[in-house]
Amino acid sequence: MERKEFKFHYHTAESTEALEPRDAALYREALEAMNSAYAPYSKFFVGAAVELENGVIVRGSNQENIAYPSGLCAERVAIFAAASKYPGVKMRALAIVASYRGENADPAPAGTEKSDSVTPCGACRQVITEYERLLGSPIRIITGGENGTVIILDSAQALLPLVFFSEALTKQVK
Ligand code: THU
Repeated sequence: MERKEFKFHYHTAESTEALEPRDAALYREALEAMNSAYAPYSKFFVGAAVELENGVIVRGSNQENIAYPSGLCAERVAIFAAASKYPGVKMRALAIVASYRGENADPAPAGTEKSDSVTPCGACRQVITEYERLLGSPIRIITGGENGTVIILDSAQALLPLVFFSEALTKQVK
């Protein structure tokens, strides 16, 4: 038996002001997208924005449903919209922003502004990773809250070690 190790690197920015201008612009799009979230059940508003290689930005927000599992995360709404409108176009980056807007939201600690943040759920990681593979290019992830620290990853692949992917299955569908 052999012991294997998995390591990954990511970056943090103290605030959006510390982001590269292109990432900061995409982050602002995700913030805007958050306002279109339909989240009456969780009150957790999530906005996402995908920047394509052709410069187009596609927004998405989480859409919930009374039949709970029927809803969809902001990331997948944005990624699927981008892939269906611009098939084959590489995705440079995905920005994600979240804010809890429920009544029992924790009060902000003294001297700080309240900020929620999010990292993609497992299902979204699986989906993002497949588009990286399909399009042959990493998707940069920029994620955080309305204020505060932002996390930046060079690729979604790092979020999902030993991801499920079967060459056999892709051969069948081609
Ligand atoms: N949600 C997202 O949109 N993205 C994530 O990365 C995590 C969760 C949504 C799903 C649901 O509408 C709400 O947030 C609470 O889970």
